[in-house]
Amino acid sequence: MLWTLTMHAHDAASERPILNDPYAAELLARVDDPPDLGLSLGGNTPLICARAKLIDDIARGWLARHDEAVVLHLGCGLDSRVLRLDPGPGVQWFDVDQEPVIDLRRRLYPELRTAVAADVTDPASFDLFPADLPRLVLAEGLLMYLDPAGVDATVHGAMTRGSTLVADTVAPWVTWVAGLQPAMRAADTGFASSTADLARVAPRLVDELSLVDATATRTGGRTSTAVRLFALVPHARNAMVLQTYERA
Ligand SMILES: C[S@@+](CC[C@H](N)C(=O)[O-])C[C@H]1O[C@@H](n2cnc3c(N)ncnc32)[C@H](O)[C@@H]1O
Repeated sequence: MLWTLTMHAHDAASERPILNDPYAAELLARVDDPPDLGLSLGGNTPLICARAKLIDDIARGWLARHDEAVVLHLGCGLDSRVLRLDPGPGVQWFDVDQEPVIDLRRRLYPELRTAVAADVTDPASFDLFPADLPRLVLAEGLLMYLDPAGVDATVHGAMTRGSTLVADTVAPWVTWVAGLQPAMRAADTGFASSTADLARVAPRLVDELSLVDATATRTGGRTSTAVRLFALVPHARNAMVLQTYERA
C-alpha cells in the first residue's frame, strides 16, 4: 500500500499526471521511512495510476446512477478514493482493510469515519455492512494477493444480490513472474491467484479493460512506445485487466 501511495505522489508531481491524486504527497510526507521504489517498481507508476483513474471513473459513473447506496472499498490501503469521489449524503462508504492498516489509516485520515478493520476472506466480515441497498464493491490491487479460496470467499461474501464488483486481476503468468520480482521478495509478499481464479467464482462479467492498453493511451513518448511494443507480445495485453462483474 505504501508502494501505490508513493506512485500516486510521484504521478501527481509529474509533468503529465494520470491520476493526479491531490492527497498522496501530503500523506506520504507524514510516513516515516517512505519506500524507495527504485527503477523496477517505479516503472509501474503509470500502470498503477491508470488503474486507479479507471476505477475512479467507473465508480463515479456508478454513483451518478445510485443516490442511496453502499460502497465497499476492499483492501483500501491508504488510498484517498473517498475524498477524490466525494460521494453524496445517501452513500454509505466503507474503507475496509486489515487491522494494522486501518489503525494507520485512522491516524493519517483522522477526519474520515469510513475505515473498517476486517479480513475480507472471512464471510462474517460482511455482516458489518447494510445488505438492503445497491452495492458497489471495489477491489484494487487486492485479489491477486489472496489465494483462490480467499478470492472465492471475498467475492461470495461481498457480492449481495444486485451488486457490482470492479476488480483488477492478473494473468496466470504474471502471478508466477511477480514471485521473481526482487522488491516483492524483499517485502516477503507475492501474488497467489489470477484472472482464472476470479472468473471461476465471480458472477456475470459485464466489462473488461486491458490495463496495458490503458497505460499506453495515458502516457506519452518512450513510455507509451515501450508499452505499445510490450502489448504486441502474445498474452501481454491481458497481463493485468480491470473487470466488472454483476450479480443478478
Ligand atoms: C497492494 S495494496 C493496495 C492498496 C490500495 N487498494 C491501493 O491501490 O493503494 C493491497 C491491500 O490489500 C490489503 N489486504 C490484503 N489481504 C487482505 C485481507 N485478507 N483483508 C483485508 N485487506 C487485505 C492489504 O492490507 C493492502 O492494504
